[in-house]
Amino acid sequence: MTRVIVVNGPNLGRLGVREPDVYGHQDLDTLRADCRAWGQELGLDVEVRQTDDEATMIGWMHQAADEGTPVVMNPAAFTHYSYGLADAAHMLGDAGLPLIEVHISNPAARESFRRHSVISPVATATITGMGFYGYKLALEAVAHCLAQ
Ligand code: DQA
Repeated sequence: MTRVIVVNGPNLGRLGVREPDVYGHQDLDTLRADCRAWGQELGLDVEVRQTDDEATMIGWMHQAADEGTPVVMNPAAFTHYSYGLADAAHMLGDAGLPLIEVHISNPAARESFRRHSVISPVATATITGMGFYGYKLALEAVAHCLAQ
């Protein structure tokens, strides 16, 4: 089974209690179980991670690039300003690995600072506004890329 990591940035450990009208009522453990189950259906061994720490997220990108691991990433607030994470994410493309950016909400329909992503230019694709289902679409996109 191909290993895929699903990495989540700051404040996504607060899913379920954080702005449920925007991010839904389900928590990170539910997302973890959903992603693992969706991965199984696609023949992917999925590991879901979350950190509030930029350096940790960057380190995960270095590791994924070195180990040849495809990535689904919800960069959360890092989306909008972390050039360090964008540079690290670039290394996945350099390694020929899919990187699917996903957002639970639709940032384009929210505050103006959310309308710009520094990650999208280095992502293979971006999925927004579909809730947790966006992660399923992202895993399907990974499977599609790997089948090419
Ligand atoms: C988010 C959107 C970001 O703007 C925000 O900072 C998040 C979550 C989303 O999943 O919709 O933390 O990435």
